Amino acid sequence: MLKWLKRIKELYNLESLVTRLLVKDPEFLQRTASYRELIADFRRKLSEQSVRESHLLERHLSRGRLPVRERIDRLLDVGTPFLEWSVFAAYGKYHGQFPNAGIVTGVGYIHGREVVVIANDSLVKGGTYVAETIKKHLRAQEIAMQNNLPCIYLVDSGGIFLREQSKVFADRDDFGRIFFNMARMSAQGIPQIAIVMGSCTAGGAYIPAMSDETVIIREQGTIFLGGPPLVQAATGEKISAEELGGGEVHTSVSGVADHLARDEEHALQLGRSIVATLPKPEKQVLNTEVPADPLYPIEELYGILGQSPREAVDAYEVIARLVDRSEWHEFKKKYAQTLLTGFAHIMGYPVGIIANNGILYSESALKATHFIELCNFRKIPLLFLQNVSGFMVGKKYEHGGIARDGAKMVHAVANAVVPRFTLVYGGSYGAGNYAMSGRAFDPNFMFMYPNARVAVMGGEQAATVLAVVKQEQLQKEGKELTNQEMNNLKEPVLKKYELESSAYFASSELWDDGIIDPADTRKVLAMAIETSLNKTIPEPRAGIYRM
Ligand code: COA
Repeated sequence: MLKWLKRIKELYNLESLVTRLLVKDPEFLQRTASYRELIADFRRKLSEQSVRESHLLERHLSRGRLPVRERIDRLLDVGTPFLEWSVFAAYGKYHGQFPNAGIVTGVGYIHGREVVVIANDSLVKGGTYVAETIKKHLRAQEIAMQNNLPCIYLVDSGGIFLREQSKVFADRDDFGRIFFNMARMSAQGIPQIAIVMGSCTAGGAYIPAMSDETVIIREQGTIFLGGPPLVQAATGEKISAEELGGGEVHTSVSGVADHLARDEEHALQLGRSIVATLPKPEKQVLNTEVPADPLYPIEELYGILGQSPREAVDAYEVIARLVDRSEWHEFKKKYAQTLLTGFAHIMGYPVGIIANNGILYSESALKATHFIELCNFRKIPLLFLQNVSGFMVGKKYEHGGIARDGAKMVHAVANAVVPRFTLVYGGSYGAGNYAMSGRAFDPNFMFMYPNARVAVMGGEQAATVLAVVKQEQLQKEGKELTNQEMNNLKEPVLKKYELESSAYFASSELWDDGIIDPADTRKVLAMAIETSLNKTIPEPRAGIYRM
């Protein structure tokens, strides 16, 4: 190692993690090969989500329209990345008729600043909304609010998917919430911009109408509360869509839209020029460093990550492949060793990492609480690396007050003022999911690896709990379960848990912001961290800790 580098490391107490893995070991190679199969399957599933029925695509193109991802490409700065969220929303549902839940969301760059893009895909059932479409749309708006980002809506939607109205219309977090959020964001100074690329019918008409500034394409975009068939049925009036609510009408008569575009390209350029007029927020400043690669190739994660929740994964080996120069300033290294805490950099950004390396105990919770307070006061974003089977159970631990200490950690996570990022690299079970900044705790972003599993507990444990409960019920009636009956009870539970704890199931339900290839982790996290800096970190504030 260079002398000066060694000196700096000594001065700042920085340690380079040294791998204990033998990457030429046949077992490691075998694990790598089998994880590569998982990645190939992930890539295949991912590309399937972009396939649209050819006759619909041809019809769309023949109408002079672009597919949704091409629209986004042309909207964003050339050669810049687009971090797409929740590609697997609604995966495996509706007989596969709602790929991506019919909407593309993500963060990208316009004139060098981050913006949230929410774009309907009219090739998926006319861009209509089922429950997951709404959840995905609302989640994108939430990210915009949480990170102070302008929203650009590329609207092309038939509104609510009418067959599902009872699941999407009237509840708090249903379709109407989209417009509520738009009004709230506008009032908070978070710009709302709509580009009407196709139809905006019924409630959908409120997206352009609620926006701060709206573009509409001549003889292509339409906005109306009731379309021509409804108007005819209701009043007998016969009228074309263009005459009722086309671009000319809305930019020169009704005032519902502000800019008339000639075509898609022109509309997207107008959208870009609107963004150019927006004031740029002062970004939060962090103590960044020059980015540097880890000492070990990130692809080695393939041989490290387990494919079954039973396999132990050494969190040090994971961290060594995620952080710059594999440098790691560990906090409380010798205390509560099943939870690692320490400072590092990822692509130059400082992060405080909290990583599971076993089950959670009282001491682990106390260590995490202390560390979160350090990050709050030092304004260092937190990265939670989840691989947790939960908190320790049993008399000794309950009497020792594990619930009290766990509550401190949960408090600290919930009230952390710094941006939080959660990555599930293994299992995410029980209260461990909550304490490690799971979805219910509003991390700025949450991603999973394809091998990740999320559930209240493992299938085997759940099946056993249910069988024991049944056994106790029967014992009260003087009956006993045979082994065969016990197995018959357990089997369907095991199957259900197997299916429902997969990363794809979780992503389909939008419990995360997407599944990522471990090899992309550093890029994804760097973009997520940069995005979060649009909001200034407030002063630390804690609730009342139970002592
Ligand atoms: N609810 C349920 N299904 C709908 C729908 C809706 N609101 N709007 C469209 N669809 C379905 C169509 O039945 C069709 O399904 P199919 O592929 O199984 O046949 C598919 O979406 C595509 O619709 P299509 O009309 O062929 O596409 P298009 O691009 O020519 O037109 C719309 C798209 C959205 C302009 C047009 O379908 C429309 O006006 N829909 C009704 C909109 C409406 O009144 N919404 C009020 C709900 S709040």
